[in-house]
Amino acid sequence: MSSNSSRTPSPTSKTPISTFIIPTPASEDHITRYKEIRLASLLTNPEAFGSRYGSENNGGSESALTFAQWEERVNTPGRSIFAAVPASGPSASLSPSPSPSPSPPPQQATISLNGVHSEPQWAGTLSLLSPAMLAGIPKGLSDPMHVAYPPEIAEAERRGDAEIWMLVGMWVRPGYRGQSVGRILIERAFEFVRQDEGIAEREGDKEKGARKRKDKIVMLRVISSNASAVRLYEKAGFRRTPIDDAELEEGQSPGQSWMSIKLFSK
Ligand SMILES: CC(C)(COP(=O)(O)OP(=O)(O)OC[C@H]1O[C@@H](n2cnc3c(N)ncnc32)[C@H](O)[C@@H]1OP(=O)(O)O)[C@@H](O)C(=O)NCCC(=O)NCCS
Repeated sequence: MSSNSSRTPSPTSKTPISTFIIPTPASEDHITRYKEIRLASLLTNPEAFGSRYGSENNGGSESALTFAQWEERVNTPGRSIFAAVPASGPSASLSPSPSPSPSPPPQQATISLNGVHSEPQWAGTLSLLSPAMLAGIPKGLSDPMHVAYPPEIAEAERRGDAEIWMLVGMWVRPGYRGQSVGRILIERAFEFVRQDEGIAEREGDKEKGARKRKDKIVMLRVISSNASAVRLYEKAGFRRTPIDDAELEEGQSPGQSWMSIKLFSK
């Protein structure tokens, strides 16, 4: 059972939260903040992720990444990184829709940037990988032919009826849990997927007349015993397909599930 299956007691008031997507090319400040929250996620909840903070593993040791490698990750085409920001924090003005609560944040953790300790840290993050990016990844984790991708989804993708998006790296800082930050991040990612014009249009493939409208399917992998994450995703509409442990690749933890949701274009 994962250690985050028990609910962090909700503070009496909710922190007003805004979300934004890190604009690319990312600023040094955004790269530093992303690095901070990503490493905090791996240190705090190593059981929830395939990558590791400090020892070699499938995903490598992220604490050893150089600034240039973080920069490359944040700027990778097709990877959209969402950040949840306490409304009084940095970049909050990039999102017009903070939650309506007027209550002050329950905590004001600070981050050191150029020696200045003033801005609240990001409350949460998640990343979304686009169909184009997934198509470019070497066969393996994301490949329907090699892992226990739900067969009907793999088939729909092969037929050209569906495009697959992948949600990864979901994490909410412990002091902000139980305040809908996870839910807000997922909704923001869904909004992004719904508004995307689709692979064919991006590539200018219009000679076939009206573009075939594909289903948009968002997928993720979760450790099946991670009750809080599974519940969060189920509440957002994801449905679970347990992965047969025999189909996992070397080094991957057993007891995982695929979760998926089909979204339609606007
Ligand atoms: C899982 C996680 C992202 C949830 O974030 P969160 O901001 O606390 O979640 P929310 O407040 O938006 O909760 C939304 C729904 O998820 C469910 N949920 C969230 N935390 C829960 C918990 N500890 N126990 C039971 N259900 C929980 C609830 O159904 C909740 O809806 P409700 O408030 O109407 O009951 C957070 O606990 C976390 O970062 N965990 C460690 C990292 C992790 O497991 N990441 C997922 C990797 S796949």
